[in-house]
Amino acid sequence: MIGLGLLIPVALAAPLDDLRADGCLACHPGGAAGVGPDLSTLAGRTEHVRTAAGQGLDVVADEAYLRRALLEPDAEVVVGFAPGIMPPTADRARVDRLVGAITALSPAAPGSRGWFGVVALGGVAFVGGHLLLSGRHLRDRAIARLGEYGFMAAYSVVIGLALGALVYGWTKAPYVELWAPSTWTRWVPLLVMPWVMVMQVAGYTTPSPTMAGMAAMVGSPARGIHRITRHPVNISTSLWAVAHLFPNGDLASVGLFGSVLALGIVGSLHIDRRLARRSPEAWARYAAATSVVPFSAIAAGRNTFSLREIGVVRILGGLALYALVSWGHAWVIGASPWP
Ligand code: HEC
Repeated sequence: MIGLGLLIPVALAAPLDDLRADGCLACHPGGAAGVGPDLSTLAGRTEHVRTAAGQGLDVVADEAYLRRALLEPDAEVVVGFAPGIMPPTADRARVDRLVGAITALSPAAPGSRGWFGVVALGGVAFVGGHLLLSGRHLRDRAIARLGEYGFMAAYSVVIGLALGALVYGWTKAPYVELWAPSTWTRWVPLLVMPWVMVMQVAGYTTPSPTMAGMAAMVGSPARGIHRITRHPVNISTSLWAVAHLFPNGDLASVGLFGSVLALGIVGSLHIDRRLARRSPEAWARYAAATSVVPFSAIAAGRNTFSLREIGVVRILGGLALYALVSWGHAWVIGASPWP
């Protein structure tokens, strides 16, 4: 951690030198705003621009945007700044070098690095909070004091705050690329998400002992989606996270999706252990007939697949949710899901 901190001032010096040598600092002094906008926090920031056709747009300053901003500055002019001043760069190699310099600058900008800390803390609190609050000791004592509903409310507040910090930190953290996702990676969530949505809808609408407050059901056989996996909500949430990691190769996204992935898996194992302790015999029977990994109990002949139990309504509901989310994605998240 300390080593990483020491590397940052070193990283800061080099890109600024690059920009200085190219004469950029005359209008972007020290990388900050002057005649032109602030470049020091630009990479990954959302810019309000006006196109040559006069259309106002919000664009995330990713690599492609930075490239366009250098090759054709007047194609998209940042609102609040004048067109026709920023000199275009034609040389591709020079554009590559400058884009690299601007990207390297961003994480070292004062204050912006701190958002990685918010992502990390939010992630730890989100995963740890779930485990701690649903652990036997704390849970029983808290219920004795706050009552069942009071405990649920407190639980929701703690988890909500942790998730809020995780997501807010993610939107604010600078763009630090760990790998450069190619366009095809966008097909991964597009193809995985229909399954995720069906599993979510079926998971939330099919009673099972693995759901909060339903442990007493452990004696009854698994039905519907639970024949496929006994943790449909957790496992599909993990699938959501894995699928989204493909087209999001930056550090903050790894923190966000990684935390959710970890919770889906660790949370499932944690619920299993709690139920096993609560009713060992009934659980042994239930666990033998179900699986965490989708379809593995069915593949092993320990259960059978029943499309009818899942039902056409849940499948259509999941697909409708998928259509709605992929349609609203660009507005709500600010990133289009289409390749
Ligand atoms: C003569 C002044 C001037 C110089 C020199 C200059 N710029 Fe700019 N730059 C501007 C202005 C004005 C804008 C805002 C208008 C626009 O978006 O085209 C801008 C915009 C930009 C943007 C888009 C910023 C954003 O917030 O979206 C980038 C990136 C950029 N400049 C990089 C550079 C680099 C790299 C250099 C050095 C090679 C450079 N500029 C040199 C004036 C300048």
